[in-house]
Amino acid sequence: EMLEKGGYEHFMLKEIYEQPRSIRDCMRGRIYPEEGQVQLGGIKEFADKLKNIDRIIIVACGTSWHAGLVGEYLIEEYARIPVEVEYASEFRYRNPIITEKDVVIAISQSGETADTMAAIEMAKEKGATIFGICNVVGASIPRITHAGVYTHAGPEIGVASTKAFTAQVTVLTLMAFYMAQQKGTLTSSKLRELLTELDCIPEKIQTALLSNDLIQEISSKIKDARNCLFLGRGSGFPVALEGALKLKEISYIHAEGYPAAEMKHGPIALIDEEMPVVFIATKNSSYEKVISNIQEVKARKGKVIAIVTEGDTEVKKMADYCIEIPDASEAFLPLLATIPLQLLSYHIAVMRGCNVDQPRNLAKSVTVE
Ligand code: AGP
Repeated sequence: EMLEKGGYEHFMLKEIYEQPRSIRDCMRGRIYPEEGQVQLGGIKEFADKLKNIDRIIIVACGTSWHAGLVGEYLIEEYARIPVEVEYASEFRYRNPIITEKDVVIAISQSGETADTMAAIEMAKEKGATIFGICNVVGASIPRITHAGVYTHAGPEIGVASTKAFTAQVTVLTLMAFYMAQQKGTLTSSKLRELLTELDCIPEKIQTALLSNDLIQEISSKIKDARNCLFLGRGSGFPVALEGALKLKEISYIHAEGYPAAEMKHGPIALIDEEMPVVFIATKNSSYEKVISNIQEVKARKGKVIAIVTEGDTEVKKMADYCIEIPDASEAFLPLLATIPLQLLSYHIAVMRGCNVDQPRNLAKSVTVE
């Protein structure tokens, strides 16, 4: 087993460290930065349809649903197509309005999740075109969808999804750019710029992983917390949700992800000196707003752990602990900011003596309703 873990103590840690490679694999043969082109063979036959669609519905569960929220942000931003993101389990029982003009994107690591499969079947019956984003080649979901794009992250053994999530986000980034290319909502020079940057993301993830020792140290300071809040804005919000889910599933600490600005509408009441609050506080369009949210937490003596852009000085003055990630355009922030959160939950869980790879009560894929 040690061999299978490649020398790492747990599959989860191995899979976290595999991300520079898995993201590279996911992009291979699909991006052409010099030409400013994205090619997605799996959905090519629907390229024309993408020029005229009115909306996209994304269905998924758990971590895959969080990837869907990042997808919503990216597709709306770049391809200007309205997107709705639905929990498959809710969507399937709601008699939703779906037409032949809709494209449904189903996201699933395993390709076997029962609720996601049922949502696909229902949308298919109503005439929608279904794309899949799946990691396991030949699984049930890729077999029942009309077209799709594999994530190619390689087998994910840890029950807590890590590399599959970042690969899903990578595919959604590629899809957003592909749709933008079809619709002409991005100029080719802008697309060239974005793809050149995307091509460097694996190296930047490698750099983000260098904070491991610091994250381990921070983990030792907050490992006994009973609750933890994760806050972010824009595409930092789904990252916060994912950070919270990781922490609760493997360390059994109650954690919540929230849009930072929503904090004052309720969760702020929870903040005291016992409460660690993890902020996604990187330099992007919501930076200044996040800074004022950090001040609100500090004024109530909360313990702030901030994910910041390399070289940041502002947040460092306020936060108790800062973890740097390389600078990147807003589009790529979720890919980078997720890495320290994965490591944080991993170290906390190990320190609490939890079974990191097989957390209690959880299965790798939920094939029951
Ligand atoms: C992730 O860490 C979870 N264990 C879980 O939320 C998972 O993402 C969810 O069950 C969906 O699985 P799928 O991607 O295989 O469909």
